[in-house]
Amino acid sequence: MSMFGPMNPPINSWQGKVVWVVGGSTGIGQAVAETLVQQGAHVVVSARTLAPLEAFVETNGSAVASAIALDVTNPQSCNDAAQAIWQRHGQVDLVLFAAGTYKALRATEFDLQVMTQHLQVNVQGAYNVLAAIMPKLMVQANAGHCGHISLISSVAGWSGLPNSLAYGPTKAALTHLGEVLYLDLAKTGLGVSVVHPGFVATPLTAQNDFHMPALITPHAAAQAMLKGWAQGEFDIHYPKRFTLWLKLIRLLPHRVAQALILKATKL
Ligand SMILES: NC(=O)c1ccc[n+]([C@@H]2O[C@H](COP(=O)([O-])OP(=O)(O)OC[C@H]3O[C@@H](n4cnc5c(N)ncnc54)[C@H](OP(=O)(O)O)[C@@H]3O)[C@@H](O)[C@H]2O)c1
Repeated sequence: MSMFGPMNPPINSWQGKVVWVVGGSTGIGQAVAETLVQQGAHVVVSARTLAPLEAFVETNGSAVASAIALDVTNPQSCNDAAQAIWQRHGQVDLVLFAAGTYKALRATEFDLQVMTQHLQVNVQGAYNVLAAIMPKLMVQANAGHCGHISLISSVAGWSGLPNSLAYGPTKAALTHLGEVLYLDLAKTGLGVSVVHPGFVATPLTAQNDFHMPALITPHAAAQAMLKGWAQGEFDIHYPKRFTLWLKLIRLLPHRVAQALILKATKL
């Protein structure tokens, strides 16, 4: 990729592509799965709860949709799923790591169990999925077939935000992981992107008891992600009316940035 061109091989057509959405039973993952099936991809959805995965296959038909239940904290279940996909399709064009957990937590109520749970699902889960799929993506890249790894991080991974004691550090780790993956894989032909959503109305954010600025629907989130993949973007962030402000705040000295965040969140 040239320094000024797209950072990844653009994905403009989904016809005949094989996509694995880990965390595809609800929310953003489910919306991406639905959109990509409509665009002609075969989408394999994974999550712990089988019923919504099976409903997805029922709705779309087994020719273009499949369901594999797994728990990302269990490396064996990730390996088994990757193996099953590889055996059936012999290719994976996009792996979207959309599995995630979020519980608002503040340092004044430090809870080690909640901290650890976030680490296991959001970070160790990504490692388990990567460990399962990377060798297969390398085989296909060496044979000249592009693939793409996309990790859903969060704007909470850019800088510390209130309520994000357990969640924020795991998202910072995912953003960092994506940056390193990109550097290591740039010459292999494999694409890497990190997704930084603002607020999206999903079961994950339904628990929030505060006003969520610039809240969007999961389908709007999916559209923004398809646009990002089509443009070969590395950092796919949305909605811009929210994320650009946060990017700006991130550039400020901590003294100013932290004061602004405290003021904006009235904490
Ligand atoms: N919504 C937002 O405003 C927002 C903002 C920034 C970033 N994000 C990120 O976007 C991603 C998707 O979030 P969402 O809002 O769409 O949440 P969601 O609707 O709760 O979806 C989370 C998905 O992850 C799956 N999952 C959770 N734990 C799992 C596990 N141990 N193993 C396998 N699958 C698991 C869930 O299914 P099961 O429970 O059935 O396993 C579900 O499919 C997350 O990484 C989240 O942090 C969301």
